[in-house]
Amino acid sequence: MLIKKSADIKSSEITDQKVYLNRRLFMRGAILAGSVTATGLLYRKLNPPPAIVEERPKIAGLVKPPSDEAIRAGFKVNEPLTSFADITNYNNFYEFSTEKRSVAEEARGFVTRPWAVEVGGLVGKPKVFDLDDLLKLAPQEERIYRHRCVEGWSMVIPWVGFPIAALLKQVEPLSSARFVAFQTLLDPKRMPNQNTGVLDWPYVEGLRVDEALNPLAILATGMYGQTMPPQDGAPIRLVVPWKYGFKSIKSIVKIMLVSNQPPTTWNIESPNEYGFYSNVNPNVDHPRWSQRMEHRIGEFGSRPTLLFNGYADQVGHLYEGMDLRANY
Ligand code: MTE
Repeated sequence: MLIKKSADIKSSEITDQKVYLNRRLFMRGAILAGSVTATGLLYRKLNPPPAIVEERPKIAGLVKPPSDEAIRAGFKVNEPLTSFADITNYNNFYEFSTEKRSVAEEARGFVTRPWAVEVGGLVGKPKVFDLDDLLKLAPQEERIYRHRCVEGWSMVIPWVGFPIAALLKQVEPLSSARFVAFQTLLDPKRMPNQNTGVLDWPYVEGLRVDEALNPLAILATGMYGQTMPPQDGAPIRLVVPWKYGFKSIKSIVKIMLVSNQPPTTWNIESPNEYGFYSNVNPNVDHPRWSQRMEHRIGEFGSRPTLLFNGYADQVGHLYEGMDLRANY
């Protein structure tokens, strides 16, 4: 499936070019027929025949990025918040448990101070940031985002965090950097399920640099105005609301700028089910279930899933011309 550009002007408002040229030619003809030859010649001199203007194929990639207003419209979704109890008791965090309702209990007491995040790779100024440095890096903002898991459930979460762009700016990425690779803490003593082979540890994820720089992509340090609970990815996690939840890697310790597409945990696990992009898309089914609908935790029934989780205006331009079925 190809993404269509969002048109600024309705096609009905644009006079078709052929119609426009024909109209001009018709008017010229009518005027000339009623004129004497001399005036006709003078007219021709003053009004050369219309230039032939042909439609040319559009240049790919020349897509208008969203306006500041459109971006801000994505910062706070106007839908009821999922309760704090549900957000903190229905979790996927395999380092602690594969049982959603047991994660909170297993992660209780997870020590997240001191905490350092190494940022390096293809950058001019690699640096190890202490959590307190990160908290001072940019104003902490509230972002109310939809959160859609690939399994078919969703929530609305009032995160607190800051744009990843603010962190990347600090380390000055080189032009050769095309991807950002993220890594979760590897410490089986503190994350007991890392003693099992349920996943390939440590959990890793990745984004293209332009995806990471999108203002919607944040590093979240809390939610509901409180510091991040362990089960939700304390002390700092990624939130990319237009992608399936598994892209939003928790408890990050390393962020590397790299030139090649980095490996990602669920893609390693099952490459034909979980792609690198994993943009929320109701038109591309998971091989084992449909993605058309979702169940909002705390509500009855189900609701339609939206393309890019409802953030097409903010991020659609990132995928202009890409086949979203091939790049699932
Ligand atoms: N990050 C790590 N390190 N380990 C995980 O198991 N699970 C992912 C993602 N980030 C996961 C992770 C999945 S599958 C989802 S849906 C979201 O976290 C769940 O986030 P939540 O528990 O805050 O809703």
